[in-house]
Amino acid sequence: MAEHVMAIDHGTTSTRAIVFDRQGEIVSTAQREHAQIFPHAGWVEHDPVEVWTNTQWVVAHALSRAKLNAADISGIGVTNQRETAVVWDRRTGRPVYNAVVWQDTRTQERLDALAGHAPRITEVTGLPLTSYFSASKLAWILENVPGAREAAEAGDILFGTPDTWIVWNLTGGPSGGEHVTDVTNASRTLLMDLVTLDWSDEMLAIWGIPRAMLPAIRSSSEVVGHAQLPPVVAGVPVAGILGDQQAAAFGQAAFDAGQTKNTYGTGNFLLVNTGTEIVRSTHGLISTVAYRCGTDAAVYALEGSIAVTGSLVQWLRDNLGIIQTSQEVQTLAETVEDNGGAYFVPAFSGLFAPYWRPDARGALVGLTRYVTKAHIARAALESTAFQTRDVLGAVIADTGRELAELRVDGGMTHNDLLVQFQADILGIPVVRPTVVETTALGAAYAAGLATGLWGGFDDLRAHWKEDRRFEPAMPAEEREERYRTWQKAVQKSLDWVE
Ligand code: G3P
Repeated sequence: MAEHVMAIDHGTTSTRAIVFDRQGEIVSTAQREHAQIFPHAGWVEHDPVEVWTNTQWVVAHALSRAKLNAADISGIGVTNQRETAVVWDRRTGRPVYNAVVWQDTRTQERLDALAGHAPRITEVTGLPLTSYFSASKLAWILENVPGAREAAEAGDILFGTPDTWIVWNLTGGPSGGEHVTDVTNASRTLLMDLVTLDWSDEMLAIWGIPRAMLPAIRSSSEVVGHAQLPPVVAGVPVAGILGDQQAAAFGQAAFDAGQTKNTYGTGNFLLVNTGTEIVRSTHGLISTVAYRCGTDAAVYALEGSIAVTGSLVQWLRDNLGIIQTSQEVQTLAETVEDNGGAYFVPAFSGLFAPYWRPDARGALVGLTRYVTKAHIARAALESTAFQTRDVLGAVIADTGRELAELRVDGGMTHNDLLVQFQADILGIPVVRPTVVETTALGAAYAAGLATGLWGGFDDLRAHWKEDRRFEPAMPAEEREERYRTWQKAVQKSLDWVE
């Protein structure tokens, strides 16, 4: 009997396959980075063919490293960077353009022209009208790729977020691949009605998008097809799809209303489970679907999305060259006592929650000749924690409840300096689980639930184990003083209108 489950986790910078056992422990991992393509300032693209090639590679390698074969895998769960738009030819499987990535801001002008629709768009979709979400990216492709609109209307080209692209290829591609997405990913497109959980004709009309090119919306945990990658994983059910931030919440076993998690990846994404109720934010958070299992009612969340956290560390590495590897940021930051007065607001894609200001630009302020690259490394790490406090402030204002503790996950949470500073700047304990790859774990859980590897949520809750609890150690006065200075730095970034 199949005792394992595989997650395919396609993030903004890399794709991984992870095999988990019945206890939710990692058995093997394989990972490949893909190129980040920056054709112009503000544009970010990926090559979907490279992503699919990498996916096949990591699936094969994770399986062989685990010394398992397809018969040992009960199901495959797919989780992905959300909002990114891919359009491809249904007969050849060839993309008509690169994937336009969630961080891409090229569509800002078009959004300005639709400003009159903004309140209605938010009412229907739960999202603010910004370039972050898929609709304007898809509309851009239809308008700028010759012949794309006609092909879309004829049903010859297909749209999907990266989950859809991967699942379509995984289940057969041009020869019968399943053209599907799940409710969590669909809820990030600006095209789905958050109440009916179906594509909204009204939104499709606003954006000029033909329904024929959209995938079917499925639940997050059900069999949507079978893998067709002989001899590697032929016949294995593809049984779970979740956007990566929702998957992380699922992997943290945040199944109950009020449970909260914060994931530290390329960006930071804080989700609060609001149960079967859609909570509308008045403080800059978005309403989104947390998950839906089979035919059960959908569970919703409030989300605070931060565009740039881990990618700032990569920027220090790739654009400034002050570190050679991402891990070095902690060692460098630890060589100094504090930030030396430097504050770094990484508004590279404008500022997301709670500001939603696409025109904001990055700001590094408070500089004197005293400041070294170590202080800049420290200011970069601190910016992740300060941005999280901005978002948590909005959560408290919206829900009227303080948080007793914050559960965290994601690659950056290996960085003890950052997690301690996070506890210091929030003034509440921050708790790290033993498995911080909760995104992949969540996708594995969704697939394992649908294929009977686990019986229900209680089995999954039992897997959650605390690794370390970081208690706040900074005096309250110092915490508030530093946060006030951060807010002044944010104001500089907001004032920097191009
Ligand atoms: O909304 C964007 C998000 O899904 C990206 O996630 O893991 O690539 O930082 P990640």
